[in-house]
Amino acid sequence: MTSIFVPKEPDGELRCAATPDTIKRLLKDGLKVVVESGLGKGSHISDEQFTAVGATVATDRVSAMGEADIILQIAVPTLDQVAQIREGGSIISFLWSFEHLDVVKALNDRKISAFSMDAIPRTTRAQKDDALSSQANLAGYKAVVAAAYHLNKILPMMMTPAGTIKPARFVIIGVGVAGLQAIATAKRLGAIVEATDPRPETKEQAESLGAKFLEVQGVEVKQGTGGYAAEQTEEYKKAQAAMLAEAFKNADAIITTALIPYKKAPTTITEDHVKSMRAGSVIVDLAAERGGNCALTEPGKIVEKHGVTIIGETNWPRTVSVNASDMYAKNVMNIVQDSMIKVSKESKEKVFKWTYEDDIVNGAMICHEGEVHHPKVRELMGLPPLAKPEPAKPAEPAPAAATPAAPVEAPAASPAPAATQENKS
Ligand code: NAI
Repeated sequence: MTSIFVPKEPDGELRCAATPDTIKRLLKDGLKVVVESGLGKGSHISDEQFTAVGATVATDRVSAMGEADIILQIAVPTLDQVAQIREGGSIISFLWSFEHLDVVKALNDRKISAFSMDAIPRTTRAQKDDALSSQANLAGYKAVVAAAYHLNKILPMMMTPAGTIKPARFVIIGVGVAGLQAIATAKRLGAIVEATDPRPETKEQAESLGAKFLEVQGVEVKQGTGGYAAEQTEEYKKAQAAMLAEAFKNADAIITTALIPYKKAPTTITEDHVKSMRAGSVIVDLAAERGGNCALTEPGKIVEKHGVTIIGETNWPRTVSVNASDMYAKNVMNIVQDSMIKVSKESKEKVFKWTYEDDIVNGAMICHEGEVHHPKVRELMGLPPLAKPEPAKPAEPAPAAATPAAPVEAPAASPAPAATQENKS
């Protein structure tokens, strides 16, 4: 029987990678699930709620780690933790491998299969597994609520006998998953919303949610790949800064979410911009963990600069841990369930098995069976590219007793690059 262990996350992380609901479903599939005592504390799930659905609660983390076939967690594993995972076991977690090559090496040395949540391809089929999206969506919502809380103003227009209150004005920078949710939330709360993004397709998306789109005009806009943005030219940055200067002067709040794969977050708000803003206005910098979009952001802190409150929280999903755990636990449960393969056509029994024939596994598997699989990570580790499989030959008459085909090593897919790094989430 394949066994899963879900360890407690590091201090400060309130989310967890399994809930009673997901455990119930995994047990139904014939898996054994062990959780570390206290796993659900930050999401208000007690040990008793886990045992009630059939999970085993372990107090000895080290032996539980060593006995499990699959570890489910959120945080990037530490080197100490890697040493505790059994050789040949699997881990499904965030890995941000480009920044943790030492961890990748340690995992690979122990022949551990490392499925990285930040490397899942952003395809339609992968949406149910996509934790970057599930967590960024919640972050976008909470950022607006935080801005509303820190503003000494209400958001909607209010007509009263004592006079009319004007609606608050929000500017959303970066119209990806978090930005779209921020637009929708600010609109729902009654604010006037303006938004900008270099990707041209975001204009229609922002407008469909009721935002006014601010387009940088008259300069070249670099296009990225895989739906992501590219780093823009100095000319674009200057033009964007000039365009946004006008919007910022009138803004009550800015939610900035701009990220570029594999790069430090671009600066979208300069100190001069902050100086030009109204006293009492608020900036929520969702890019804080990748250095921040605002020049004055202090990651992990709320600071006041030139009369403006700048919020640099680096893990928004943990502030809504109940929903974030629920979503993340479902993401990883789907990944496990999709790798449960029937023992035979006739049998109902399933076994857990990674296969590169699955494009999601192929894209997100960093190392497996003692080989670093991810092409970009191989490059960064100075390893030669993996040999691609030979093109299929025309079918030949089958031999008398053909052996069943082994999982094929498909060509390595491009990674889904790091987007928001909400606590490596
Ligand atoms: P992200 O977190 O990498 O970046 C956030 C946003 O910042 C992006 O919209 C990006 O264009 C924008 N940005 C970058 N530089 C900027 C600048 N200088 N100024 C203003 N904005 C800037 O993006 P996220 O949210 O992870 O989404 C990336 C793409 O993946 C999007 O196209 C999204 O629609 C797509 N996606 C597709 C999914 C699917 O089909 N399964 C699931 C999730 C996302």
